[in-house]
Amino acid sequence: MPDTPLPSQPHGLAWGIKKSFVDYVGSIADGSITARSGALTTDDGGFSFGVHRVDLAEDLATGTLAFTGDVILSGHDGMMHVRLLDPAIDLLGSHAQLTVAADTVEGTEPDQARIVIARMYAGGFADQGDALEWRASTVLLTDEGATLFGKQYPSGQMMDELVARVAKPAA
Ligand code: HEM
Repeated sequence: MPDTPLPSQPHGLAWGIKKSFVDYVGSIADGSITARSGALTTDDGGFSFGVHRVDLAEDLATGTLAFTGDVILSGHDGMMHVRLLDPAIDLLGSHAQLTVAADTVEGTEPDQARIVIARMYAGGFADQGDALEWRASTVLLTDEGATLFGKQYPSGQMMDELVARVAKPAA
């Protein structure tokens, strides 16, 4: 993985997680931020994940956008280890949820259980010609999401905006 920030992938999931958290990890003496296996760091200090699978209902109200990539933020002699592995968005009509593969150990199987880390509200897809863009400006941590961040944030904590961009399904 190159060290220099790269632009967001044209299709994929772009998420800054929470700028204050990423800044905090950068300020820790042994803080480390790794993006690999389909994830990249972006010019704005956020992250992008590649598209893994798009499964949308015809009306685009429900379905799953699954991404691939592994982002790890660690520090404090290994006591802090926040891992976002293969995130996915489940569109549930009135709202959506963000899941990640359960963070157990390195090299866990891709079909392992997933955890719901945030609830999201978005205004649907924007048509961008050959792509569909889905932008959630309201991203709220669930209890499990709060646990992922060491309970340093409460459940309901507002996280940064999240944008998914996928190829438009063939008509
Ligand atoms: C030895 C262990 C730790 C120490 C000494 C420590 C220290 C700190 C300090 C001093 C802050 C405040 C930073 C600031 O306001 O600028 C902070 C914030 C935070 N810490 Fe830790 N921390 C530890 C472990 C952890 C762990 C285990 C996690 C997560 C798994 C974690 C996640 C966070 C988060 C999410 C924040 C809030 C960042 C923000 O948005 O401002 N920390 N920590």
